[in-house]
Amino acid sequence: MVQHTILQVGALPSVAEGQLHEEFSVFRIPEKGWEAVVAEHGQQQSIAVTSSMAGVSGALMKLLPNLKAVVNFGVGYDTTDVATAQDLGIQVSNTPDVLTDCVADLAVGLMIDTARGISASDRFVRRGQWPQGQYPLGQRMSGKRVGVVGMGRIGQAIAKRLEAFGCSIAYHSRSRVDTLTYPWYESLIDLATDSDFLVVAVAGGPATTGLISGEVLRALGSDGHLINIARGTVIDEMALVDALTHQHIAGASLDVFTHEPHVPKALFALDNVVLTPHIGSATAETRQDMASLFFDNLRQFIAAGTLKTPVS
Ligand code: 8YV
Repeated sequence: MVQHTILQVGALPSVAEGQLHEEFSVFRIPEKGWEAVVAEHGQQQSIAVTSSMAGVSGALMKLLPNLKAVVNFGVGYDTTDVATAQDLGIQVSNTPDVLTDCVADLAVGLMIDTARGISASDRFVRRGQWPQGQYPLGQRMSGKRVGVVGMGRIGQAIAKRLEAFGCSIAYHSRSRVDTLTYPWYESLIDLATDSDFLVVAVAGGPATTGLISGEVLRALGSDGHLINIARGTVIDEMALVDALTHQHIAGASLDVFTHEPHVPKALFALDNVVLTPHIGSATAETRQDMASLFFDNLRQFIAAGTLKTPVS
């Protein structure tokens, strides 16, 4: 068996971090000043382990002459330079499928929250405001028009759940998904115009950065709601802050942000936005399943030089 040494880039969720260090000999590079450390110690590392939150850059790959695989904890791999990995013959894996249900569950929860004001009305009760009068009316979610942006595994799981709410589903993605009968919109602006709720479930990365622009938000309109469980980078965050501040859209629920863990402070004072700290996959069961798949990929690569769930 080929001897592999493992380089860790960034923190891993606790469900994987402890086990990784118990089972394997791992060299973790520092967040700052890593170039010098890698130049000194990076000759023998053949596997890099990372998470969607950190990723492995092309610059780092080029400093690791023996790197053969990047094993990523998370379904999203926008933080890893997959194009450079392919050029250098480095295989990359992620953890698909096991988190689909939990992320879709959260998306539906966030939709109900922004429509009905669950979080905002909870704050209203806690502030002792109920005796002074009724909480303002919300909007119905059942039966509404939902536009899903990105119709991969998670988008489809969200759509399936929303069918049970009597919602009509349409979607925008690079190309039509042949197995689906939902209307496909080539134009995202047209989809936003025809939607009461726009749910972002598309992969992050350069191809989708800023996809939800000020123009898309204007098309969604003052009765429209935006839900993002994908990546913060997909939304023009400043345009969204502006749209929420001036009520150009009715509300938003955001689980992801451009500069996590930092959230634009202007949002803290707004009651028309629900803010959660990237908890889409954060259940005990799903994180355990993600960890199992992450370790399956790592062990399979060490044993056979192949990955169980390569990204392409
Ligand atoms: C994170 C996610 O990976 O899977 C993804 O792409 O965004 C999350 O599940 C998780 O926080 C671990 O880094």
